[in-house]
Amino acid sequence: MSPFLLTRTLPEDATDADLRADVLHGLTRTPKVLPPKWFYDARGSELFEEITRLPEYYPTRAEREILIARAPGIAAVTRARTLVELGSGSSEKTRHLLDALPALESYVPVDVSESALTAAASSLLDERPALSVHALIADFTRGLALPGTPGPRLVAFLGGTIGNLLPDERAVFLKSVRSLLAPGDALLMGTDLVKDEATLVAAYDDAQGVTAAFNKNVLSVIDRELGADFDPDDFEHVAVWDREREWIEMRLRARTALTVKIPELDIAVSFEAGEEIRTEVSAKFRQGGVRRELGGAGLELREWWTDGAGRFALSLAVAV
Ligand code: SAH
Ligand code: TRP
Repeated sequence: MSPFLLTRTLPEDATDADLRADVLHGLTRTPKVLPPKWFYDARGSELFEEITRLPEYYPTRAEREILIARAPGIAAVTRARTLVELGSGSSEKTRHLLDALPALESYVPVDVSESALTAAASSLLDERPALSVHALIADFTRGLALPGTPGPRLVAFLGGTIGNLLPDERAVFLKSVRSLLAPGDALLMGTDLVKDEATLVAAYDDAQGVTAAFNKNVLSVIDRELGADFDPDDFEHVAVWDREREWIEMRLRARTALTVKIPELDIAVSFEAGEEIRTEVSAKFRQGGVRRELGGAGLELREWWTDGAGRFALSLAVAV
């Protein structure tokens, strides 16, 4: 049996300073905001997996199609011995990559969700006993320290998760990714593409209400961790396409005027009827923008692959 290591760089429970600061800051300002990483407790991670199987949510299937077609090309260019994956979740699609990298020795999945990491790592170790898996419970926006595994290194950032960062956050993040790479090492990044509004909105507001439940889960996390009395049913899930900024915005809209107590923070938060909390953006991209953002961080775009329907792109960039 190969080694499985789990390293925690985040505190044991979510009642840490980070959640408190984010909730205090986000819910006492106008307009109200919450950062997306708090969606992903064990239930949130399960709901996300359910989203990836929805008929409306095309990004997962589109990205899988590209990975299957391009994995041999990725292996040839990168010759990776270590694969680091940021926001790895279930590591489902990653299997196509793992299977195609002949020199791979080490897999380093990084995620804030401990339940997702342990489930993914245990099934991977069953399937690929020769692979060494070193999972990291860490926030990828907070400066990562990676284990000293052998190079060349390939960093994968799939699922369009880059789009959940704001433009200035993306610039900082991509520079920090660049700092993990030696010249010649590579970044493989998935980006959802700009397309018609109806397709985009449906992907974030499905008929079965799974995305609504996922969005509202952040309120349950705050109830559990900070003793708040949010009733998720008091809020409506909203997904809107911002045509100017080319991103989908997820919001939670108060159905009536209400006040929520958050005892652990010693505050009460009032909502007017119809008032919204912005819980996430999901930016959509074009090739020129991706090339520019990568270039700004010292990463040179080498390959741009899309699925047959042109909905989603996978970029392979090399550290220069
Ligand atoms: N890569 C998978 C999952 C995408 S969902 C896929 O393509 O299907 C986004 C993942 O990133 C979730 O597993 C979530 O727990 C994780 N995540 C979100 N914000 C994070 C952060 N700041 N640091 C580390 N992981 C994060
Ligand atoms: N990275 C995913 C995306 O932007 C995350 C996601 C999918 C998501 N559906 C969501 C986040 C609904 C919040 C709400 O596509």
